[in-house]
Amino acid sequence: MFEIRNLSKKFGDRMLFDRLNLQIEKQSIVSIVGPSGGGKTTLLRMLANLESMDSGEILLDGRVLDIKKEEQIMGIVFQDFQLFPHLSVLENITLAPIQVLKKNKKVAEHSAKILLSHLELADKKYLYPYQLSGGQKQRVALARALAMKPQILAYDEPTSSLDPNLRKQIEKLIISMKDLGVTQIVVTHDLNFAQNISDQMIEV
Ligand SMILES: Nc1ncnc2c1ncn2[C@@H]1O[C@H](COP(=O)(O)OP(=O)(O)O)[C@@H](O)[C@H]1O
Ligand SMILES: [Mg+2]
Repeated sequence: MFEIRNLSKKFGDRMLFDRLNLQIEKQSIVSIVGPSGGGKTTLLRMLANLESMDSGEILLDGRVLDIKKEEQIMGIVFQDFQLFPHLSVLENITLAPIQVLKKNKKVAEHSAKILLSHLELADKKYLYPYQLSGGQKQRVALARALAMKPQILAYDEPTSSLDPNLRKQIEKLIISMKDLGVTQIVVTHDLNFAQNISDQMIEV
């Protein structure tokens, strides 16, 4: 169980979250829906320790997480993917496992190649982000997050840059991630998409 307890956040005098509570069962998918400007991206940034919380706690299986020190627990696929433009697909995926998890380069590359073939990107490993389509970049961003073996995986507006065909594909992909034991949080303003994938929907 992943929990957010009493999370509050404001910017200036604008209250984005006032003691938000959220519980997510292991391996389930929660959609967070809400209007633009409602604070959805800020919520994910707080979970990734890119933005501070005013108050609140994050817990995993009843234990309070120190998200500053345990950042690999959370994997985030940002809306604009944030791939490193000067690194190949393979390098984008292996950078954090090598530098943060201190994995041996060969081992990290081996795992990355397995992930890439699962995501039908095996033939793209030596390409650079600018050589990929939007949907391919998104899957690279997903592979990069998965390479850190996160227990919680969050996506910010995963359908925003996709045509309907790719949207179906990402729906399938997110649902199939359950089998890897990942708990997922999907931030979206796309209600139809949210209904198709989620076990639980939260409005913010
Ligand atoms: N670093 C920041 N400083 C001040 N205001 C911010 C900052 N980041 C976001 N905001 C404001 O907080 C509100 C929520 O933003 P955001 O989390 O991006 O919403 P959403 O993702 O739901 O569209 C917006 O009004 C935005 O302008
Ligand atoms: Mg947003």
